[in-house]
Amino acid sequence: MSSSMSAAAEFIQSKSSLRPRVAVVLGSGLGAFAGALQDAVVIPYGEIPGWPVSTAVGHAGNLVLGTLDGFPVAVMAGRVHLYEGYTAQQAVYGVRVLAKLGVRSLVLTNAAGGINPDYQPGQAVLIGDHINLTGQNPLTGPNDENLGPRFPDMSEAYSRRFRDLARQAGRQAGIDLVEGVYAALAGPSYETPAEIRYLRAIGADLVGMSTVPETIAANHAGIKVLGISCVTNLAAGVTDQKLDHKEVLETGERMRGMMIDLLQRILPRLDEE
Ligand code: HPA
Repeated sequence: MSSSMSAAAEFIQSKSSLRPRVAVVLGSGLGAFAGALQDAVVIPYGEIPGWPVSTAVGHAGNLVLGTLDGFPVAVMAGRVHLYEGYTAQQAVYGVRVLAKLGVRSLVLTNAAGGINPDYQPGQAVLIGDHINLTGQNPLTGPNDENLGPRFPDMSEAYSRRFRDLARQAGRQAGIDLVEGVYAALAGPSYETPAEIRYLRAIGADLVGMSTVPETIAANHAGIKVLGISCVTNLAAGVTDQKLDHKEVLETGERMRGMMIDLLQRILPRLDEE
């Protein structure tokens, strides 16, 4: 894994002279953000040594290096999920390659179901913390001390400073960003109403099928994380409505403009240590 990660990093560096320290992973329906970059170099995942290729609808598979008003960023447009059959290690391959490339700050976006009754579909929520219910962890197995420590601290998995910066940026854009706890399940079936009641009882505000493996790998690698969930639907049983992946994608699409605005404001601020 480690040698193919070096090959991946070298390959990417041969395609672009940009050396971004800030990266973003785009969730369902948000791939279009990559189009907002200038001087963009688009690298299909399939061309990068060792990089797993996503099969989920709505998940383009490109690494894009470009600039936002001159500020270099790396964008992962599309990610692989545990429910596709990938291991947690494969799910975090991209994050580890970004770490090798020198990325120090990572924004993870996703589509999520809203468990908190105050949430509305179409709302963006900052991830304040997570609960890993996937049954997997990307750090399982021998620890590569070159990547990070055996037992990484997770007491501030989502940087408090980044959350403050994001809230400030949101205010300037007229977007009120509240904070919630994200529960990750392996999927791919959506939750039952009983599972959602359970998740609410244990303190979850949001539910989804991604992000947590990447957050763990990023913290392991010493990368600071900002997490933003797009509430694409109310979680199962919150209303009588059935869940539909098409609706999840459509709501994600409708949030695209707001998310692009937010990301453009936030990303350049995440560089100072
Ligand atoms: N549950 C799990 N994952 C999701 C949901 C949901 O309701 N909405 C978007 N991703």
